[in-house]
Amino acid sequence: MEAKRAIVTGGTSGIGLAIAEALVGAGFAVTVTGRDAGKGAAAAASIGAGFAQVDHSDLSAVRAFAAGVEGVDVLVNNVGGAFWNRVVTPDGHETTLALNLLAPVVLTEAVLPKLREGSRIVNIVTKLEKNMKLDLDDPQGEKRYKGFDAYAGAKVGLLAWTLDLAKRAESRGVLVNGVHPGIVVGTGFGADMPWIMRAMGPVIARLFGMSRSMEDAVRTPLRLATTGTETGRYLDLDAEIPLPAQLDDPAQVARILALCAELGAAPALTA
Ligand SMILES: NC(=O)c1ccc[n+]([C@@H]2O[C@H](COP(=O)([O-])OP(=O)(O)OC[C@H]3O[C@@H](n4cnc5c(N)ncnc54)[C@H](OP(=O)(O)O)[C@@H]3O)[C@@H](O)[C@H]2O)c1
Repeated sequence: MEAKRAIVTGGTSGIGLAIAEALVGAGFAVTVTGRDAGKGAAAAASIGAGFAQVDHSDLSAVRAFAAGVEGVDVLVNNVGGAFWNRVVTPDGHETTLALNLLAPVVLTEAVLPKLREGSRIVNIVTKLEKNMKLDLDDPQGEKRYKGFDAYAGAKVGLLAWTLDLAKRAESRGVLVNGVHPGIVVGTGFGADMPWIMRAMGPVIARLFGMSRSMEDAVRTPLRLATTGTETGRYLDLDAEIPLPAQLDDPAQVARILALCAELGAAPALTA
């Protein structure tokens, strides 16, 4: 029997690589994506996966990758990151918004028609104590940019779209969930942050018991990608996380979904 196929974006190191390795172990034919071709090919070979070079902050590259995708059973939208300085991508989007929100939305909406019945989509989001809000009056940080606020806002956007997609995809038997992996020290996350933050972040996370092992971080995404039967959930170690207040307001959610469509990620499926 042909192995089920999985894609893990940003799967050449960090949390994505650990998820990809676990999926290979579960018998999936896995493709991981990343920017760095040498690192990506070596990482993929080390776990028995295939590799595709894609810069997910470049939406035309994401569309080109999506065009070549066929017959997928599992899509893990893992790629993401926070950036200290505001950088605009070649297609004119602020990088944090592009990478964390627009890239997964563009990829997923493009491959949705090619997903097999019963497919599973796992979106790696986050849970922060504060500022979990997408600034809809300045989504690209043109008036004010703060890396972690932009990151939190983009992940709130991804969560809003995740929950909407779960409803739209239900009739096709496609399960869609968002997971907070927890704080995992030692990945490349926040690599362009000032050195003091990079140095102190792990110390503080460990000191206050906030960090999580890679094994624990991967457990819920792996379960949702392989055996989970739920959809439309926002989970942290299998426990439901209360939604950010912004997502309790249907008008705000509608504006977030309209923003995704306006910036190039129109929904491919309606409910
Ligand atoms: N680490 C944490 O504590 C934590 C907490 C909550 C949520 N998360 C979320 O978990 C996910 C994974 O985080 P992580 O800590 O594992 O991150 P990471 O170590 O920075 O991610 C590394 C992976 O992402 C790829 N990548 C980065 N930018 C890319 C781009 N523009 N295009 C294509 N690939 C790109 C890297 O490949 P290249 O090297 O080739 O670019 C590599 O495969 C993210 O969505 C993050 O927001 C992480």
